[in-house]
Amino acid sequence: MTTYAAITGCGRAVPHRVLTNSDLEKLVDTSDEWIRTRTGISERRVVADDEATSDLAIRAAREALAAAATDPADLDLVIVATCTPDWMFPSVAARVQHAVGARRAAAFDLNAACSGFIFALATATQFIQNGSYRRVLVVGSEVLSRVVDWADRKTCVLFGDGAGAVVLEATEKPLGLLSYVLGTDGSGDRLLYLLGPTASPQQRARAETTYLYMNGPEVFKFAVNVTVAASRQVLERAGYTLEDVALFVPHQANERIIRAAAKSLHLPADKVYINLDRFGNTSAASIPIALAEAVERGRLRPGDLVLMVGFGAGLTWAAGLVRWGSPNGTGPGG
Ligand code: COA
Repeated sequence: MTTYAAITGCGRAVPHRVLTNSDLEKLVDTSDEWIRTRTGISERRVVADDEATSDLAIRAAREALAAAATDPADLDLVIVATCTPDWMFPSVAARVQHAVGARRAAAFDLNAACSGFIFALATATQFIQNGSYRRVLVVGSEVLSRVVDWADRKTCVLFGDGAGAVVLEATEKPLGLLSYVLGTDGSGDRLLYLLGPTASPQQRARAETTYLYMNGPEVFKFAVNVTVAASRQVLERAGYTLEDVALFVPHQANERIIRAAAKSLHLPADKVYINLDRFGNTSAASIPIALAEAVERGRLRPGDLVLMVGFGAGLTWAAGLVRWGSPNGTGPGG
């Protein structure tokens, strides 16, 4: 009998502070019009001085656990996908494990940049499918506002802070991740990067900046191509076609990337979930935030086939095809 890993609850947490495009006009030489037409973003959330990646992760995790009606003591594993941890060690996941009371669970962070959530979902699903664990919490949480250069208009307008989480539970019903595609091309390391605290003086000397660096136009081309290719591959692996997809939930980086990919895939606009206008690019948090919001808004129903695609620094990319729904039929969106 095959074991599957159903998504039984979702949660999200974003900071209360809203930073609008007009606020950014006061910081850098930009305009609301440029940001909206070139990216689709109108505003993003930014943490308060007393908030960090682990705080957002804990809030999102609690919401997902409540939605799934899962006792945290029953969790076997906690994975946090993040590229902006507030501590290098212990992991953000260790803080989540303790804060939510997952006293039996092992916990670790996973870094695949903006593809991190799907990498973590695939990892968690393996642990459940091989019989090691029955309940896993997967979180994507980021605070990019502390690593962008607020004087660099090419990057600071794009990013935001937030967290999203899902609970996975073992079931014999064909739910959860049906297929996935994970990819990495380390030769693209200079297109999008952030130096770590252990970078050598030579590495610092060679870096363009000690803040987040991005070659926007090159990443743009990569993102469109890989979103289209990975979407096709992940569907083919599971034996489905684009017509079977109920909702496309792409990484929320730039509306033009999403529209170009959707057009190439012939996906109608009403099947494409976009919320980057309100949150900007929240890296590994963008897909789980979108999933939780889609459930709240009645855009995701049990039985729906959900196509998710992420891409980011590495370069990395990831696609996942998920059959939405909970084994008892009352799960997220039910
Ligand atoms: N406001 C006003 N002008 C801006 C600007 C801003 N915030 N940012 C850049 N510009 C200017 C540039 O300086 C440039 O001016 P120049 O021609 O005088 O040098 C001009 O706009 C065009 O810049 P370019 O970088 O070619 O713009 P673009 O159309 O490629 O859009 C991005 C820039 C960053 C929005 C776009 O490349 C992008 O979204 N890339 C992918 C980003 C992404 O997905 N990253 C995350 C991956 S996880």
